[in-house]
Amino acid sequence: MDCANHTSSDMFILLGLSEVPHLQVICFLLFLVMYILTVLGNVLLLLVVRINSNLQTPMYFLLRNLSVIDFGFSSSVVPEILVNTLSKDRSISLVGCAVQMFAYVALGQTECILLAVMAYDRFAAICKPLHYNTIMNKTLCVYLVAGSWSFCCITSTMHVVLIFVKPFFHSIHINHFFCEIPLLLQISCRDTRLNQALVYVTAVIIVVCSFFLIIISYLNIVSTILKIRSSRGRQKTFSTCSSHLMVVAIYFGTIMFIYLRPSSTHSPESDRIFSMLYTAVTPMLNPFIYSVRNKEVKGTVKRICVALKT
Ligand SMILES: *[C@@H]1O[C@H](CO)[C@@H](O)[C@H](O)[C@H]1NC(C)=O
Repeated sequence: MDCANHTSSDMFILLGLSEVPHLQVICFLLFLVMYILTVLGNVLLLLVVRINSNLQTPMYFLLRNLSVIDFGFSSSVVPEILVNTLSKDRSISLVGCAVQMFAYVALGQTECILLAVMAYDRFAAICKPLHYNTIMNKTLCVYLVAGSWSFCCITSTMHVVLIFVKPFFHSIHINHFFCEIPLLLQISCRDTRLNQALVYVTAVIIVVCSFFLIIISYLNIVSTILKIRSSRGRQKTFSTCSSHLMVVAIYFGTIMFIYLRPSSTHSPESDRIFSMLYTAVTPMLNPFIYSVRNKEVKGTVKRICVALKT
């Protein structure tokens, strides 16, 4: 680490996806297709939930917010990757880097809490069906969602302020395709203990708490489902939470894969591939997971298609 003869710079160079030219083209096309699908899928889901009057329930209110988050999360990273992969100039300004970090940290964390709120919603619907409307009322939903947005914006601001106020880095090269916190901490010349602590504290508060809330909700859901006598009833009840369960599994699966692997298996290359998973693939899959098995959503999509054709 060479912090002594360092001249401050107002930009970084992202090393991008791959140094090999033909891989760059493939990566570019892959990201482009995934981004287009993300935008189309999430916008279509927003539209469907908005126009179908049968979908004005708390679950779909939360789902709409999830779509907004997925769209924003992906947009905070992928367009920048697309531009950087094509152009020779891979620089990003310090301000651009800070804005990107704020956006994806805030959105990624909000998604995590929102998934927990959605699990709680499924718990209320399946385990307390008679009181569902009083438990998950509109006001509570709005408060829960607005609360998680605010909380995550505050913690995200703290991350960004700690890194970018009086920035002092020993390198302008970031070995990644976007501004990730750990990579900026690696090249920081300042004492990063406070940053590390904040990363751990927010991870515990947000990720671990959400994860446990989800686990507890699903334990209750499973025990309720097992008590249902008929297997058709069981299947029907389970189908109301299977999409959410799948989205949760993908989200937490990738997080755990990234952060809980033994450090000997970490390499910049594999880290980049897994980051690609959670920045580009997860937001793309969510709307499709929720649409494929849902007759209301599929029917509305068909109606929109018919209306567009005529
Ligand atoms: C998401 O939640 C916020 C806060 O509750 C609400 O104001 C907003 O309208 C919601 N967005 C959508 C698209 O439902």
